[in-house]
Amino acid sequence: MSETYTDSGGTSLAEKAAALDAVDELGKVRAQFVLDDTVYLDGNSLGALPRSVPGRIEDVVRRQWGSLRIRSWDESGWWTAPERIGDRIAPLVGAAPGQIVVGDSTSVNVFKAVVGAVRLAGGGADGGALGGTRDEILVDATTFPTDGYIAASAARLTGCTLRPVAPEEVPDALGGRTAAVLLNHVDYRTGRLHDLPALTAAIREAGAVSVWDLCHSAGALPVGLDEHGVDLAVGCTYKYLNGGPGSPAYLYVRRDHQARFDSPLPGWNSHADPFGMTPDHVPADGALRGRVGTPDILSMLALEAALEVWDDVSIEAVRRKSLALTDFFLECVAEYVPAGALESVTPGAQGERGSQVALRCGDAGGVMRRLIERGVIGDFREPDILRFGFTPLYVGFGDVERAAGVLGGLF
Ligand SMILES: Cc1ncc(COP(=O)(O)O)c(C=O)c1O
Repeated sequence: MSETYTDSGGTSLAEKAAALDAVDELGKVRAQFVLDDTVYLDGNSLGALPRSVPGRIEDVVRRQWGSLRIRSWDESGWWTAPERIGDRIAPLVGAAPGQIVVGDSTSVNVFKAVVGAVRLAGGGADGGALGGTRDEILVDATTFPTDGYIAASAARLTGCTLRPVAPEEVPDALGGRTAAVLLNHVDYRTGRLHDLPALTAAIREAGAVSVWDLCHSAGALPVGLDEHGVDLAVGCTYKYLNGGPGSPAYLYVRRDHQARFDSPLPGWNSHADPFGMTPDHVPADGALRGRVGTPDILSMLALEAALEVWDDVSIEAVRRKSLALTDFFLECVAEYVPAGALESVTPGAQGERGSQVALRCGDAGGVMRRLIERGVIGDFREPDILRFGFTPLYVGFGDVERAAGVLGGLF
């Protein structure tokens, strides 16, 4: 199809992209990242490298570790990094300070949160022994697999049954037996944004405890954890928060629940007096009880440096640009790709869309391989999905137009 499409106003999509880039309120942020001349639409899998990170890691390794050695636990702030960096993430997900700790993988935090949620609800076998009747965990039927696997294990350990339910059907599935509900804010495959405020309210109304996985929403759109009364939440930091490969995840424990949050992994780092070395575990106050063992300092401090790009950026501005980018991509695809070659599985309505567009087509794996060869980086998800993530901090409208043009040229 033509790459010089002209709309009824006489403007080509390339000109429209240039005009949008010229007024992009986040355009300047791109310079803070290490990028090349490829179009990088895979920040929903691994965010690009912020320029501040290599120098920080050099300092952490050479000076903090190499020279200060053990003194760095205090003098370089290593010991308090999990809660300090949690407080840096907090405004991005609408949480007041003191409710987020960083550490471990998302999978491990899902485990802490789901078991912790059942315990908060007075559910499972422990609750049953006290006369409780909540013995069911609901899980997003379309979840990223790790959440489902971990929830199944958490259910077995707590004496609950696990019921997979489509997020929109959760209100009907809730009942007096529901202990906990684990949901994804944005579906990793389709990019659908679920209704966190309404679902959280329904879960609360049923007396159950909500656990939200924010992997595909944190750093891409406002979450409003405190405002919407979310109980517990987890998320990774290597996607829209650009923390780097394997950077640590985080756990949010709503302030009202902290005194009763009973982690299934009570390591020495969550002890009220970690260096008391006492045989019994006495949990620390606050979100700290979500900590487990020694934090992975190199990854954690790389993440802390990466988060500096947010110093002058609001999540509302990111959301505005994210919606404009995904709208524009859909517009360019509709123009450049022959009708019927692709089908969008991402909702058209802005309020139901995260920051990615997923397109279904035949031989999606082959199409993505050819796209990557031509300098457009997205990813492929079985069985037939092309996934494109739009990170507003470094993706521009020109990138979007170019990506859609290259895609159109493959059909
Ligand atoms: C929604 C969701 N949850 C969890 C994970 C994986 O978590 P981790 O590998 O950090 O344990 C991912 C990874 O892409 C994800 O998309």
